[in-house]
Amino acid sequence: MSTNETSAHDKFSSFLRCIEEGCEAQYSIDQRLYSCPECGGLLDVAYDFESSVSADELKALFKSRKTSDLDIDRSGVWRFRELLPFVADTSQAITLAEGNTPIYAAPRSADYAGLASLRFKHQGMNPTGSFKDDGMATGVTQARVLRATAVACASTGNTSASMAAYAARARMRAFVFVPAGQVAFGKLAQALEYGASVIEIEGSFDDAMRIVRELAEETDLYLLNSINPFRLEGQKTIVIEMMEQLGWRAPDWIVVPGGNLGNSSAFGKALHEMARLNLLDLRPRLAIIQASGAAPFYELFVSTDRTALKPYASAATLATAIRIGNPISWKKALRAIDWTRGIVERVTEQEIADAKAVIGSDGIGCEPASAATLAGIRRLVAAGEIRSDDTVVAVLTGNLLKDPDYTIGYHTGSLTLDEGGTRTVIEASFANRPLRVAASKDAIKRLLNL
Ligand code: F0G
Repeated sequence: MSTNETSAHDKFSSFLRCIEEGCEAQYSIDQRLYSCPECGGLLDVAYDFESSVSADELKALFKSRKTSDLDIDRSGVWRFRELLPFVADTSQAITLAEGNTPIYAAPRSADYAGLASLRFKHQGMNPTGSFKDDGMATGVTQARVLRATAVACASTGNTSASMAAYAARARMRAFVFVPAGQVAFGKLAQALEYGASVIEIEGSFDDAMRIVRELAEETDLYLLNSINPFRLEGQKTIVIEMMEQLGWRAPDWIVVPGGNLGNSSAFGKALHEMARLNLLDLRPRLAIIQASGAAPFYELFVSTDRTALKPYASAATLATAIRIGNPISWKKALRAIDWTRGIVERVTEQEIADAKAVIGSDGIGCEPASAATLAGIRRLVAAGEIRSDDTVVAVLTGNLLKDPDYTIGYHTGSLTLDEGGTRTVIEASFANRPLRVAASKDAIKRLLNL
């Protein structure tokens, strides 16, 4: 521990609290709970932030840790541990040097969206290539604190890859439940390589999610989906780190894709707590973007009755990461929208595919779900919701290499979505086809006009 370590635990008390208005029941953080035993509501890890540490002291502390020799200080999650003070003994913290992800300016993407400027915070630059690592650092740490020996999740791929890696580091068994045939190969390969037991369910992600929740209630498996509030604690640091990188000047908008809605929920909680700790100069607005074939939260947002989300019986999108019809964290995401005067948008398969190629043209690249952000921004600028001179940071959630089949399919004009007996063909509007040529210098010169 560094000498200026503020043992977070001395200053803040931590507990679990039901988010349902009128319930708000509290439980000890040592209990293995995924929802409120009283009313079934989602749980927050809540803190009594009556802190004697000023915002300026916190900022200085976060910065100083970047040059520390300790793994825990260099982690882009644990560096911000004053805002995740549920771990009493930080020697328990698991880390794979997650976080510390770059923010890139993206002029071509900005042009495409109709913005003067646009930045991407690239969570695909994490150790397993997605934002899930920020959450698994804290989630698997809590699993260790609770002495769990086996962890489990349902996943469209990235959660399973990340949980498998962090469980391996913590020497725990990992069981991942994935929809058979619907997980991008890059992600499946990771879960296998990190030694998780991979169970391919003959059904959807939503089926896998329902089953693994029931299993976690009935067995010793510790559930590490984002319904587990300790996962979201780590994902808060995506926004905290973004603010630090922006010199603690908040952008007008933070844009994120929405699937199971854990990340959106974590961002809302981060902003709420940062405001309490005087770490925010203004409250950025959150824009959550869904794929139109998997957009139950968008429909809730535009409906007059926001008390019940209507799940999709069957969700369809080539952005398999967000192919989710019954998002588990929708109430927390709605709270995030309320806190931030946020907005929800949906985008088509074609818009996602084109936006992904445009992000690639900035030399950045991402997986399909992440590109929903740029497609959504473009729509929101066209609709006048986002102004062209607003400052916007979009979060790219996963690495380009997660799903090479999609990218090759797009650039070779063979990307199609087959669903319910209909086929949607994706136009390769920004195609960059490979050129095949005889193994001859002359043929190549002719081909390339050299
Ligand atoms: N982007 C990527 C690359 C994802 O993997 C996910 C979710 C999302 C966006 C949506 O985030 O669920 O917090 O709203 N992937 C989960 C998984 C469901 O199993 O890997 P969310």
